[in-house]
Amino acid sequence: MAEMLDRIQELAREAEAAVAAAPSVEALEALRTAWLGRSGRLQEVLRALGTLPPAERGPVGRAANDVKEAVTSRLEARLGELRAAAEGALGDARWVDATMPGARRGGGTLHPVTQMRRELEELFLSMGFSILDGPWVEDDRHNFEALNVAKDHPARDAQDTFWLEDGHLLRTHTSPVQVRAMETRKPPIRAVAAGRVFRNEALDASHENTFHQIEGLVVERDVNVGHLVHTLKTLLSAVFGRDVEVRLRPSFFPFTEPSFELDLRCLVCEGKGCPVCKRSGWVELLGCGLVHPNVLRACGVDPATWSGFAFGLGIDRLVMMRHGIEDIRWLMSGDLRFLSQFGAGVSG
Ligand code: FA5
Repeated sequence: MAEMLDRIQELAREAEAAVAAAPSVEALEALRTAWLGRSGRLQEVLRALGTLPPAERGPVGRAANDVKEAVTSRLEARLGELRAAAEGALGDARWVDATMPGARRGGGTLHPVTQMRRELEELFLSMGFSILDGPWVEDDRHNFEALNVAKDHPARDAQDTFWLEDGHLLRTHTSPVQVRAMETRKPPIRAVAAGRVFRNEALDASHENTFHQIEGLVVERDVNVGHLVHTLKTLLSAVFGRDVEVRLRPSFFPFTEPSFELDLRCLVCEGKGCPVCKRSGWVELLGCGLVHPNVLRACGVDPATWSGFAFGLGIDRLVMMRHGIEDIRWLMSGDLRFLSQFGAGVSG
C-alpha cells in the first residue's frame, strides 16, 4: 500500500509541475485530458484499486481522489492566469469609458424599390383597395391565355419570356394576378398586386430583365376611362407631391380595350433628352385600359353586368424618376455605395 501511496504523490508532483509550466490555454486543455480524462493517468491508478486487498482500497482511493481534486483546482487557477495574461496583452483596449456615447452601428435600409412599393400599397389601402400577391412562376393560362393573349402573340416570343423546362414560365408582368383575383373573388373587386417580373430582353438604361410592377384592378358596375384616369392622377400626385407632366397615348394590350400607355416627362433630364428616355424627353411608366370582355369571361365574370379597369406600372422607373437615377441597372446592382443613399430605416 505504501508503495501505491508514494506512486500517487509522485504523480501529483509531476502533474502540478506540468500544469504550472503550461504555456497556453490549449496546452492546458491537453493536460486536462492527459491527467484527468477517462483514460488519463490518475484514472489508471483508480482502476488498479481492484487489485488491492479490500482493507487498502479505502485509503488509496481517497488519496487518489484528493490528488485529482488538487490537480483540477491547480489547472483552473492556471487557466485563470493564462486568460488574464491574454487580456492584459490587449492593454487599455479592455477598459471602457462607460460615459462615452455608444458606437453607431450601420443598420440596413429598405431598398428604394421596396420603399416605393410600400408607399404605393399604403396609398391604395387608403383608397379601399386590397393587397394581393401572386407567384413568380406562372402557367401559360394565367400569364397569357386568360389575358386574351393569343398563342401566336409576339409577347410569347422566346425573346421575351423565360420558359421553364416543365412548360411553366417566369411571369412577364403582374397581370396574371388580375386573373387570380377574378377567379377567387366575386366582384366588386378593388385590388393591387406588386412584385417582381422577368423578361428575357436586351438591357439598357431603362430596361432590366428583372424589374417590378404594381398591378391595379377594379371590377365594378359601369366603370369607365374617367375612373381610371382619376386613380392614376391620385397616384402620381401622391408620389411626386407636385405637378408632373404626363401624356396618355392610345396603345394596344390584348387584355384591355381601349388601351393606353402613360408617359411621364423625364425627370432625369427634365425632358431635354437622355439615355433613360432614349432622348425623347418621355418615359413609359405604365400600361392601362378597360378590362377586355374576353378576360372577364375567361375568369368567370359576366361582362354584361361588370366592367373594370386595370393598369400595370413599372415601379423601378417610378423610383428612377423620383430620385433622378440615370440607369435602371443600379437598382439591382447590390452596390451599397448606391443603395445607402436611400436610407429609410428598416421597419415592420
Ligand atoms: C405590361 O406589362 C402590361 N401588363 C401592363 C398593363 C396592365 C396594361 C393592365 C393594361 C392593363 P408593359 O410591357 O408596357 O405592359 O409594361 C408596363 C410597364 O412596366 C412599362 O410602362 C414600364 O414602366 C415597365 N417596364 C416594362 N418593361 C420594362 C423593363 N424591361 N425594365 C423596366 N421596366 C419595364
